[in-house]
Order: sequence, then structure tokens, then C-alpha cells
Amino acid sequence: MAEYARLTAEDFKINQRFFDNNWNCDGWHTEESKWDNYFKMVMIAAESGVDLAGSSCLDVGCGTGDLSKLLRGVGVREYLGIDIYEPHLVEAHAKYPGENFVLLDLLAGPLDKFEGRFDYVFCSGALTTRSASDNYDFAQAMISKMWEMANAGVAFNTLLTNELNEVMGNSYLFNYDPHKLLGVCRRAAPDAEIICRVEDDHLNPQAHIHLVRKKKEDVPT
Ligand SMILES: C[S@@+](CC[C@H](N)C(=O)[O-])C[C@H]1O[C@@H](n2cnc3c(N)ncnc32)[C@H](O)[C@@H]1O
Repeated sequence: MAEYARLTAEDFKINQRFFDNNWNCDGWHTEESKWDNYFKMVMIAAESGVDLAGSSCLDVGCGTGDLSKLLRGVGVREYLGIDIYEPHLVEAHAKYPGENFVLLDLLAGPLDKFEGRFDYVFCSGALTTRSASDNYDFAQAMISKMWEMANAGVAFNTLLTNELNEVMGNSYLFNYDPHKLLGVCRRAAPDAEIICRVEDDHLNPQAHIHLVRKKKEDVPT
């Protein structure tokens, strides 16, 4: 697998074009599916044993910032949303003026001042755009970076392949093979406990993945 260090100029352009044409619901089909995904992500707190209340969270590919509303609602102390698509951030600032949203590519940084600073890293929908580069390389780089930055856990979602969407194809969205995706997670976060829930509604199958830091007592000596 080739090393994917940061988004290429072509991948930036693809991202820009996709969201210029899919502005509604932050790229989700409906508001309901968007919020449903957020709820599934915050379940990571129960699995990692670290309370979201009082925690610090990084939201990678924050879009127009709605996840911040849910996280603040459950008592998150510190929130930072980053995104590479400026119009989303303009909207995020307008909707949530008190929040911290920054124009930043997770892969390019600079993230030095944030390294290791977050209990949780969330990433909803940011791995699903079909890139010009290999999507598995891109996903591995993103997951690896998120894992580096999380003290308690990482929660993200992706679209998955099935017989139907294999046949139909989609030039904008990338559907991951579940087995290959799990391999990517193992390489990106070798010391994580990986929890993967698959939701197959035939049209838009999805994986909800949680990477959880093993507690010291769970690690064999
Ligand atoms: C489908 S939208 C989802 C927005 C929001 N997370 C939500 O679920 O409502 C994905 C977002 O990820 C952003 N994104 C993609 N790659 C990124 C990267 N490397 N660093 C930061 N943001 C990225 C896109 O610009 C886009 O705004």
C-alpha cells in the first residue's frame, strides 16, 4: 500500500466540487440520517469507559458544525472542528458563533499544538468522497492520524460495498469493502480494540467504527 501523506491538489478539487453540488444536509441524504450517525458515534463513550461529559473532542471534517451541538448537549468541555471546505466553516461559524472551527486538513496540519490533546476524535462522512488517489491509502492515513490524536477513542463512519451498489457504481462516493477496511484499521491503529457495526439497508450500507484504547488491565503482559 502506497504512503498517502496529505491530500493532493486533485483530491482537494474533488472535495470542493462534491460539496459545491451537495450542500444540503452536509452531504448526507437527509437530516435524519446525519443525526442518526452522530448518535451512533457518541456511543463510543460507553465502550471506552471515558465519560463524554468533561471531555475534549476533535471533529474531523466538521462540515457546518452540527455535531458540536450534540457534544455540548452531553457536556463536552472542549470542542474543535476542522474542515478543508471553507463554505462549510462559514456556515458553522454563523450557526454556532461560540465554537472553535478551523480551516485545516487533518493530514497536513499543523496539529502539533493539539497532538494528544483530545479524549475523542470523531469523523462523520469525511472518508466517503471518492478520491483521485487510492481511497484505502487515504483512509489509512486519516485513521492513523486520528488514532495518534485520541487519548480514549476514535469514532467514524464509512459507506460500504454491496452487490447492488457494486453494479450501480457512483462516481462521487466511495464504498469500502468491509474486510479491506478492517485491515486498514488494524494497520492504522494496531493497538486499538476495533468495534465495527454494519448497517445494511441495501441502498446505503454503512460501517460505524469505534477504535478504543485498551485499558492497561486489558493488555496482556
Ligand atoms: C460529508 S461531510 C460531513 C460533515 C459533518 N461531519 C457531518 O457529518 O455533518 C464531510 C466533510 O469532511 C471534510 N473533509 C474531507 N477531508 C478532510 C480532511 N482531510 N481534513 C478535514 N476535513 C476534511 C469535507 O470538506 C466535508 O466538509
